[in-house]
Amino acid sequence: MDKPASLDIFTTGPREGRRLVVLTAYDVPTARLAARGGVDALLVGDSLGQVLLGYDSTLPVTLDDMVHHSRAVTRARTGLPVIADLPYGTFHVDPRDTVRAALRLVKDAGVQAVKLEGGRRRADHIKALLDAEIPVMGHLGLTPQSLNAFGGYKVQGRSDEAADRLLEEARFLAEAGCFGMVLECIPAALAARVTEAVDIPTIGIGAGAGCAGQVLVFHDLLGLMDDFKPRFVKRYAELGQAAAEAIEAFSREVREGSFPTEAHTYGKKKGAKPAPDAGGGYLNGMSEGEG
Ligand code: KIV
Repeated sequence: MDKPASLDIFTTGPREGRRLVVLTAYDVPTARLAARGGVDALLVGDSLGQVLLGYDSTLPVTLDDMVHHSRAVTRARTGLPVIADLPYGTFHVDPRDTVRAALRLVKDAGVQAVKLEGGRRRADHIKALLDAEIPVMGHLGLTPQSLNAFGGYKVQGRSDEAADRLLEEARFLAEAGCFGMVLECIPAALAARVTEAVDIPTIGIGAGAGCAGQVLVFHDLLGLMDDFKPRFVKRYAELGQAAAEAIEAFSREVREGSFPTEAHTYGKKKGAKPAPDAGGGYLNGMSEGEG
């Protein structure tokens, strides 16, 4: 049996002076690639609404969407802790409904923790989740589910008052028992102040280098989203371009008749009857042996 994945790295990492690396993952290939790349934890972000499902925001993402993708990520069996976003609407209701939603992510999808956006106004929900033994990660700053309330995606905490308020919210999340918090799109100096002020790791995205760790969206890091490149994203590869070129080459070769070649083609055993239908799924279990 696999060793259960653990959130210990969020305690031991910072204690050992190690910056934490978190990456979003939404399915088996993204989870396995993130694990091969050596990240510390996987976040099934509700950013899947934009990067996978074609929505303009995270607001339409449902609990079923989150369970479906979280299941795929835990099925990848990377051994890494998996944190799943509670989607919009699941922690704006009675805390008992929040617990029910989180239980689906823990019991049906097998994640180790949930993340929710907001500070003190989520106090009852955080308490209810922790009472149900569900570890909680907080999320402050540009919380994308607040899109309508903010009137757009805007950097947060820029005025002195807003910065003080955010610092207060961060202190609240740490005292409430969150094991970590995401700080999204806030000035670097404020993120560093928060990191200094709380005893749980801050995971920054657009929050400068003074955080205890960093998170990026898988598709942003790899250049898979053509039309989206905010200031805080560093593309470490241009896989979107590479993928389009590969598909163009495939299309060209099929059209000109140069693919498949003999190297990609099966022959028939002498005297054999016609090959049976390979059947079943995507050629599951197919071997190069005799058919
Ligand atoms: O949904 C998401 O991917 C996130 C990260 C950007 C932190 O919340």
